[in-house]
Amino acid sequence: MMLIHSTSEFIAWRKSVANQTVAFVPTMGALHSGHHSLIAHAAQQCHLVVVSIFVNAMQFGDADDFNTYPRSEQSDYLASVTAGANVVFAPHQQEIFPADFDRYLTPSSLANDYEGKHRPGHFAGVVTVVNRLFDIVQPDVVIFGAKDYQQVAVIRAMSDELHPTIRIVTLETVRDTDGLALSSRNTRLNTASRLQAQVIPRTLQAIATLHAQGETRSHVLKSEGLKILELVPNILVEYLEIVQQDTLNTVDEARNAVVLFAGVLDGVRLIDNLLLQ
Ligand code: PAJ
Repeated sequence: MMLIHSTSEFIAWRKSVANQTVAFVPTMGALHSGHHSLIAHAAQQCHLVVVSIFVNAMQFGDADDFNTYPRSEQSDYLASVTAGANVVFAPHQQEIFPADFDRYLTPSSLANDYEGKHRPGHFAGVVTVVNRLFDIVQPDVVIFGAKDYQQVAVIRAMSDELHPTIRIVTLETVRDTDGLALSSRNTRLNTASRLQAQVIPRTLQAIATLHAQGETRSHVLKSEGLKILELVPNILVEYLEIVQQDTLNTVDEARNAVVLFAGVLDGVRLIDNLLLQ
């Protein structure tokens, strides 16, 4: 088990295990059970598991959000190893983005709406860092969480073009007992807003239930969802959309669709989604 901070040291290690398969879990640290489940799954996929911890300034629009993002390298290292990681790669800023770095990527059009619209520049930062990490880690398999539904779609498009041999795996969102999707940002919710946040999974679940009962009209599903969210006036809804699972285009009829939600509760931005099967 190793904690590696330097890119050259990591590349030397990767060369030393060139004949072994590597499953990779990229993270920004502050690991919770959602991340642990990705790491445990990775351990079943390949000979070796690499977890990266890198809080990527490029994907944060808001300097405050970046500065206050929870950082806990030692406990993250231990949690990663416990979950099945062989190597934790926790590079410093200049190891990933040295002064002469020039491989800035533009994300595919899947990045245009939803998160892309509400967080300008976010997905450019995500694909740029993930491409850089893929170049360094040289993984065979990479595991992502469905919690960030649009992120996986945008990364998959980048990876299919630039890293066609890498297999991208998506795992289900891990939720707290009350249904709230686990997120590193949940620790910023106070007791009252943590309770109010339950309305998010309840809304998604209510939409899925209506859909399972035969209601496929997106505008009806959406307006029923918004009525539930309005019960908690503290939530500022950024978007609640029913979109096609592959194209992420909004649809009139919800078939192979997914509900995407983003909102801000007491200053904490939360996202979630649920497939409508
Ligand atoms: P981060 O938010 O740390 O998430 C790392 C991985 O954990 C992502 O694939 C995310 O979807 C997954 N994840 C987060 N919460 C989850 C949950 N409740 N259940 C299951 N999986 C969950 O996403 C990022 O970091 C960054 O954008 C990154 C891809 C590392 C690029 O910087």
